[in-house]
Amino acid sequence: MLLAIFCILAAVNVSALETVVFGAFTQTATYSVANQLGLFTEAGLNVIFEAVPNSTYAYAQVLNGGYDILTGTIDNAVNLRFNSNETLTVIGQLDQGPDLTLASAPNITTVEDLKGKPLIVDSPVSGYAYLLRKILESHGLLLENGDYYFQTVGSTNLRYPDLVAGTLPNGTEVYATILTYPFTAAAETLPAAQRLNILSYVADVVDPVVSTAFTIREDALANATMTPKLTRFVSAMYAANLYLNNPANKNCSVNAIAKQLNVTLETAELDYTAAIQADTGEVSPGGNFTVNEEGLMNIINVRQEFGGFTVPADFNFTEAIAPGTGKLIDYSIRDAAIASCGKRLLDISC
Ligand SMILES: *[C@@H]1O[C@H](CO)[C@@H](O)[C@H](O)[C@H]1NC(C)=O
Ligand SMILES: *[C@@H]1O[C@H](CO)[C@@H](O)[C@H](O)[C@H]1NC(C)=O
Ligand SMILES: *[C@@H]1O[C@H](CO)[C@@H](O)[C@H](O)[C@H]1NC(C)=O
Ligand SMILES: *[C@@H]1O[C@H](CO)[C@@H](O)[C@H](O)[C@H]1NC(C)=O
Ligand SMILES: *[C@@H]1O[C@H](CO)[C@@H](O)[C@H](O)[C@H]1NC(C)=O
Ligand SMILES: *[C@@H]1O[C@H](CO)[C@@H](O)[C@H](O)[C@H]1NC(C)=O
Ligand SMILES: *[C@@H]1O[C@H](CO)[C@@H](O)[C@H](O)[C@H]1NC(C)=O
Ligand SMILES: *[C@@H]1O[C@H](CO)[C@@H](O)[C@H](O)[C@H]1NC(C)=O
Ligand SMILES: *[C@@H]1O[C@H](CO)[C@@H](O)[C@H](O)[C@H]1NC(C)=O
Repeated sequence: MLLAIFCILAAVNVSALETVVFGAFTQTATYSVANQLGLFTEAGLNVIFEAVPNSTYAYAQVLNGGYDILTGTIDNAVNLRFNSNETLTVIGQLDQGPDLTLASAPNITTVEDLKGKPLIVDSPVSGYAYLLRKILESHGLLLENGDYYFQTVGSTNLRYPDLVAGTLPNGTEVYATILTYPFTAAAETLPAAQRLNILSYVADVVDPVVSTAFTIREDALANATMTPKLTRFVSAMYAANLYLNNPANKNCSVNAIAKQLNVTLETAELDYTAAIQADTGEVSPGGNFTVNEEGLMNIINVRQEFGGFTVPADFNFTEAIAPGTGKLIDYSIRDAAIASCGKRLLDISC
């Protein structure tokens, strides 16, 4: 038993747990802590975790009400909102790209070895594909010159097993992909014969970046059924994120990650280390899910460099990323979640 100070809703007055359908690309460390330490239950929620197969599907689920909330790369929301006017809203930043790496099959040992090879991605016009292009460009390899090419496979939870297997389900050989938390640590702790290579870190070419963001459909912000549930969800994640980033809780956080991911303590410790990195971890300015503006502008600039915007030439990105009602970023739920926090002791075991 361990007593810990949490910031969580001071009093939750619900007779039965309310369901929140939560789509996510990965089981983040913050989610692992929230779930394993029972913080969602404390907040009166039954959170149904849905691992997303690919970004197209995931964002459609947000818009059509299949998911109540999604943690996904902010570039997707930027792309869909600015290029296609989709009514997606970012309500906070979860991370700055923990363990974002270019990883390769065992016999590909340098970025240059990828010349002439395919790289597997979620989408060739996604933020991660643009970040891969930055890495390869820094080694003199250009997509537009045909130095390498992309194959569309799906989200990291599909690509990682393909990279480990060395082939796609249709038998095509797999050489490299972008990995993120928690797959990078998994790759680093594979048995020696299967060990993947980490060829480069995204942070070596673009730093900081905003990666995972809490994303909802805009009309949920004015929906009296949705806002209380989402506020409680964010407050549980906020409490978990504070807990995770407090070094005094290291052992419990590592245990929570190990249990949630069903990995060894050795792997979970690498995951933990990635998750608490000040520049790339599950961190945000002020520690309160504020979006890192410099990191978001870096993501926008990389997309722009590779022609990923169809907005008018005079589109004002600075104005477009300023938070507010009806904008890409709206902190009203985040602010309500933090305002509703009371410091109290929870009796938890880890
Ligand atoms: C995305 O996932 C959905 C649902 O599993 C699937 O039907 C669709 O084919 C996938 N799209 C791509 C591009 O892989
Ligand atoms: C998005 O909305 C703006 C402003 O209303 C409009 O100028 C633009 O054509 C729209 N873009 C698309 C792709 O619908
Ligand atoms: C890696 O091994 C595969 C066969 O397993 C081969 O097709 C490929 O060319 C090798 N790559 C390099 C860079 O040696
Ligand atoms: C195998 O699947 C990949 C990814 O969908 C695709 O790019 C490739 O063309 C396929 N290869 C064959 C031989 O069907
Ligand atoms: C509010 O959201 C719920 C759950 O998605 C939905 O069933 C309901 O129709 C929405 N209400 C309004 C007024 O849009
Ligand atoms: C954390 O776990 C390690 C290894 O199990 C142990 O040696 C250490 O005393 C623990 N620290 C705390 C603060 O519980
Ligand atoms: C956890 O991992 C172990 C070893 O890889 C495996 O045997 C077990 O079935 C997994 N448990 C769950 C619940 O997935
Ligand atoms: C969150 O942190 C930012 C950056 O430090 C700060 O400006 C802001 O006031 C904080 N907001 C809340 C609601 O705590
Ligand atoms: C873009 O918007 C920002 C913030 O609203 C403003 O300060 C700036 O002057 C605008 N830039 C242009 C070129 O209009």
